[in-house]
Amino acid sequence: MEKIQGFDILKHEKSKRIVSIKIQDEILEKLIFPFNKFDITTLEYKPFTRFTIAKNLDDLSDNKLSKLMNSIIKDRETGCFIIGPKKITSKIDDIFLVKLSTAIAHLIGIPNYDSMAGKYYARFYVKHEDRSDSYLRKAYKNMDLHTDGTYVKEITDWLLMTKIEEKNAEGGETTMLHLDNWEHCKDLFNNPIGKQNFIWGSPKSKNIEYKVEHPIFSLDKKRRPQISYIDQFPEPKNMDQGIFLQKLSDGLEESKNKTIIKLSVGSSIIANNYFWLHGRKSFKENKNLSRELLRIRGKFLQ
Ligand SMILES: [Fe+2]
Repeated sequence: MEKIQGFDILKHEKSKRIVSIKIQDEILEKLIFPFNKFDITTLEYKPFTRFTIAKNLDDLSDNKLSKLMNSIIKDRETGCFIIGPKKITSKIDDIFLVKLSTAIAHLIGIPNYDSMAGKYYARFYVKHEDRSDSYLRKAYKNMDLHTDGTYVKEITDWLLMTKIEEKNAEGGETTMLHLDNWEHCKDLFNNPIGKQNFIWGSPKSKNIEYKVEHPIFSLDKKRRPQISYIDQFPEPKNMDQGIFLQKLSDGLEESKNKTIIKLSVGSSIIANNYFWLHGRKSFKENKNLSRELLRIRGKFLQ
């Protein structure tokens, strides 16, 4: 693995396709001053300030961090990394984590507008009680393997998820599956129904008025399979599409090759959205359960 002063870079213990990047204290300390230059409102209102804090972070690595992150996320062999403070201190609060996530995201690309939150990122809770209309906040339900951005017009090359805070959580691990490790990939990819156009809608909370049409499987430039899929939003047009979706869903959920990760507070997972699927296991019931997450989805820099 590459060496960068101030960062511990290792293969993740659970998967050789995931890189673990731990930020040492000396770097975090040096970020506090430049990060204090902008408050959250400024970052939300003035997009260029997000690039300023991204540059602050990259400069502390002699610009090696951005190169490393981009090479991981674009490499089919890996395509995923987890990055976060090596140690959580009192200085690393939720505001710091929003800024750190913003900096990391802007070294990889440009965030998409998140319609659910009305800004370039979304912060949301998973709690014991929930009245929402999607699996995102349903703590006691499995969130099945999926990719993001299936129901929007924007391109979603990558996604970032940061665990801001967590209390009384048991279970709720992140599940990840790389297409090239999926036992049923070839079989389902070769089924012509997967290359038909499907209609994708979304529930009210997502604030997307339109529907989009696209196939589930496509090929990248090197003719390797890519997937765009989530269980809740495709609207099958006929029995063939319905049965295909059921097969796909069963094939994903029964996979023995999922990587199960306990993301620590303060850490972010960043994944290529074309060949990595992600999900979440259900939590053990607890009235005081609370997890706060931050997400950013976006495009690669051109
Ligand atoms: Fe997702």
